[in-house]
Amino acid sequence: MANQEKIIIFDTTLRDGEQSPGASMNIEEKMRIAHQLERLNVDVIEAGFPIASDGDFEAVKKIAQTIKGPQIAGLSRAGELDINRAWEALKYAGERGRIHTFIATSDIHMKYKLKMSEQQVLDTAVKAVELAASYTPNVEFSAEDAVRTSLPFLAQVIEAVIASGATTVNIPDTVGYTIPSEYFDIISYLKQNVSNIDKAIISVHCHNDLGLAVANSLAAVQAGARQVECTVNGIGERAGNCSLEEIVMALRTRHDILHYTTNVTTEQITPSSKLLSTITGIQVQQNKAVVGANAFAHEAGIHQHGMMMDASTYEIMTPESVGLNQSKLVLGKHSGRHAFIDRLKVLGYDLTREENEKAFVRFKSLADSKKEIFDEDLDAIVADEVLRVPETFKLLQMNVSSGSFSAPTATVEMEVAGKVKKTAIIGDGPVDATFKAIKKLTKSQAKLLNFSVGAITGGTDAQGECTVRLADEGREILGAGAHPDIIVASAKAYIHALNKIASKAIINKKSPV
Ligand code: KIV
Ligand code: ZN
Repeated sequence: MANQEKIIIFDTTLRDGEQSPGASMNIEEKMRIAHQLERLNVDVIEAGFPIASDGDFEAVKKIAQTIKGPQIAGLSRAGELDINRAWEALKYAGERGRIHTFIATSDIHMKYKLKMSEQQVLDTAVKAVELAASYTPNVEFSAEDAVRTSLPFLAQVIEAVIASGATTVNIPDTVGYTIPSEYFDIISYLKQNVSNIDKAIISVHCHNDLGLAVANSLAAVQAGARQVECTVNGIGERAGNCSLEEIVMALRTRHDILHYTTNVTTEQITPSSKLLSTITGIQVQQNKAVVGANAFAHEAGIHQHGMMMDASTYEIMTPESVGLNQSKLVLGKHSGRHAFIDRLKVLGYDLTREENEKAFVRFKSLADSKKEIFDEDLDAIVADEVLRVPETFKLLQMNVSSGSFSAPTATVEMEVAGKVKKTAIIGDGPVDATFKAIKKLTKSQAKLLNFSVGAITGGTDAQGECTVRLADEGREILGAGAHPDIIVASAKAYIHALNKIASKAIINKKSPV
């Protein structure tokens, strides 16, 4: 089709998304998401904010070293230390490494936050971009709070940074304030008033405070933006960011009037959404567009009748197109080591011999209790057996009795710092009894904030996957565990979080903005 332009999908789940309350991830968790984003085939992965913490630096570096398809971006304020640190982590990606530097340009931010004049902001932006461009031609500049910036000044800054080497210029709606027509006008203004605008890609980055992030991003695309910054499940600061699945499916579904394409493998949308929920413990609402549990459920009789006649009556996109109902049966009880390792490779896991062996033993035991093993099961096995923090606490055995006749009792045996300990405790339910027993054995002071249970695939023999969120010394820590028995999965999730606290494996981020 004529006039088909590509929209660059810049995923910031691991940076802006990770700034969602409670969404901090450790390196292994970030790697799992990065591998999934690679399968989703986004164009750019913003992997983190390298100067924010050592953990964030290491995560960006590892992603830059490991992920091969997408470009890898790292955020930095417009300062020498930030930019040098960002490049130190990103250089492993070579030309695919992108330095993303930013400074606020709105009067409000310049006056109250930066305490800088327009000239100082302009000079700082130019210097930052020049330094970044001395490392790589792949430089993105963001004018933070662009939407509330005076347009002539915004145009002046954008022109200057492009002249200094920025190849992507981002116009963020940092506070989720704009509406589609206004944002369309802002992008149009820049196209008309920045003399060198054709030398850079215009990018948009919308927050969802008024629920307009996707609509605003689409309006910007219609005005000429060619990169959209977004996150899986729309997670991010406050009300979140533009949701990746919504913008991508809007472009695909309304291709009749939006003549743009993306490189996204849309069938990987549901697996990406699920993986993120599992890792962060942040579930999407039931009626969330595209990935909510009800997004393809037809309840009303008249709708069901129409659907039976022809799916297009009430369905504007198919569940298959977003990877729903697509759990692929990949392995079974008789699959051997080679088939298992090959499949892990396809899923992006390049494990050591020892790690493969550990995962294979777990796979065999799962295949004994569950006839069909899906990709999602393999992901859970790797997460559970390999990508774990050092185990100060180990679950050895447990037994729980519950029902309507007797008080729920959990008997738990654990290894705590090398010593075997056992206890039995009554609780308000089987999970409560289990958690109380673990708390007693580990002497943990952490407070339980949240507990959620999900099934990894369909069927009554599906593995349960539980997440637990704990609060400890002002931090929030998530733990995840999978097992065909959901009480055991809960125990594993709780112990996983306690091990993270013990190993201090949480990325403790400083807030960037
Ligand atoms: O919302 C925002 O302005 C940002 C920038 C750092 C791009 O996240
Ligand atoms: Zn943002």
